[in-house]
Amino acid sequence: MLSYRHAFHAGNFADVLKHLVLAKTIQYMTQKPVAIRYIDTHAGSGCYPLNSAMSQKTGEYETGAGALKKLLQKAPFAPYGSVLKQHLAAGKYPGSPQIAVDLLRAHDQLYLHEMHPTDFSLLGKWAGSDRRIRVAQSDGHQALKSLLPAVKGRALVLMDPSFEMKQEYLQAISSLEAGYKRMPNATFLLWYPVVQRNQIDKMISRLRSTPLRDVWQFEFCRTPDTKDHGMTGSGILAINPPWTLAGELSDLLPQIKASIAPAEGHWRVENLIPE
Ligand SMILES: C[S@@+](CC[C@H](N)C(=O)[O-])C[C@H]1O[C@@H](n2cnc3c(N)ncnc32)[C@H](O)[C@@H]1O
Repeated sequence: MLSYRHAFHAGNFADVLKHLVLAKTIQYMTQKPVAIRYIDTHAGSGCYPLNSAMSQKTGEYETGAGALKKLLQKAPFAPYGSVLKQHLAAGKYPGSPQIAVDLLRAHDQLYLHEMHPTDFSLLGKWAGSDRRIRVAQSDGHQALKSLLPAVKGRALVLMDPSFEMKQEYLQAISSLEAGYKRMPNATFLLWYPVVQRNQIDKMISRLRSTPLRDVWQFEFCRTPDTKDHGMTGSGILAINPPWTLAGELSDLLPQIKASIAPAEGHWRVENLIPE
């Protein structure tokens, strides 16, 4: 089932957490000169015009990155803030491929996977002739297995499924495990929505049964958990994240909460499995 289109949601408050974490991770990893293989298993279309009918229909950007625009320009939110500023000036919200390509270097490589035919076509056009980028209309979970280990020794994986089906929670953990077994020193970021807390509990319980080490949970929710339908928040399960990230997010997530969810928001930064 491929009905999900990220253009409806680009720049919402869940994208803010995901892209803040992604940008900080790339910033940290690019401090070392060795080339990075960046793998986006669920890439979307690259960059999202905010005047599109899809974006206008939901207005999700306005209550996410739009509402946080000023805060995100503060120095501690760099480099996400500067990438955001540059693309907002052109009326677009930068998706994960755009953030990655802006922050990676000439000798890094990007492998982007997108199954939806329309979004794949948009992604291809967005990538243009940039020789660092390979796009494929293929299943990101399968592709991950063929792309790891990265021969030159460094890899960053963003796994950002659309969670249209319940089984995607456990599928994501199996995929992380397969990737980790191939390359235990790679960094993996798995984004998840907070819709039904029991799905996340099951996912984490499954994660604890794998050999994965150095696993962190970063989460931001606008409202308390509920059994009703609707996304109240989102999180990232991070494996081998930069050692600086937990401290930074412990400072930044309360600021996001104070700006957009002062009364009911909550956040967590937790080491689920030590090194
Ligand atoms: C949440 S969106 C990606 C957003 C993007 N990562 C960003 O942050 O800008 C998830 C995307 O994954 C695509 N997709 C769903 N299942 C997939 C699969 N098995 N392999 C690759 N792409 C998939 C969907 O079509 C959708 O465009």
